[in-house]
Amino acid sequence: MKYLWFNSFLILFATCLVIICNFEKSSIINVYYASNLYICNINKDPSITSPNIIIKKVIGTHISMSHKNVEGFYSDSISFKIHYIPHGVHNFFPKFVLIYINNGRVKEIHQNDLVNYPKLKYLDLDENDSSN
Ligand SMILES: *[C@@H]1O[C@H](CO)[C@@H](O)[C@H](O)[C@H]1NC(C)=O
Repeated sequence: MKYLWFNSFLILFATCLVIICNFEKSSIINVYYASNLYICNINKDPSITSPNIIIKKVIGTHISMSHKNVEGFYSDSISFKIHYIPHGVHNFFPKFVLIYINNGRVKEIHQNDLVNYPKLKYLDLDENDSSN
């Protein structure tokens, strides 16, 4: 019994993640087709190297907006490992419509990944590692 508890604690710990953002307007970055969205420009490598990772917390300084205004994720760093789509985003960002992960080397997208983004309009995963 003790062992079981310890084991589930470890799993919980290992599959939760904190995202650190620079919150900004997409007009000043490279998302020309979805300009003027309020986005989280991911600021530190979240190292998402296994599927079904749940976002536990999102950190970053808002100027005059808040988490409820955030409409997308943006990442364009070759050194960031974003191999899978994280889950739990709708708990923080009810208006979420954009995922832009360039150079994250996304390997796979599963159907249950996208359930987490019921309002998603733009999915841009250039320089991914998917084989199709
Ligand atoms: C995956 O990457 C290739 C090559 O960069 C690109 O053509 C394709 O549109 C990408 N897939 C998605 C879903 O963005």
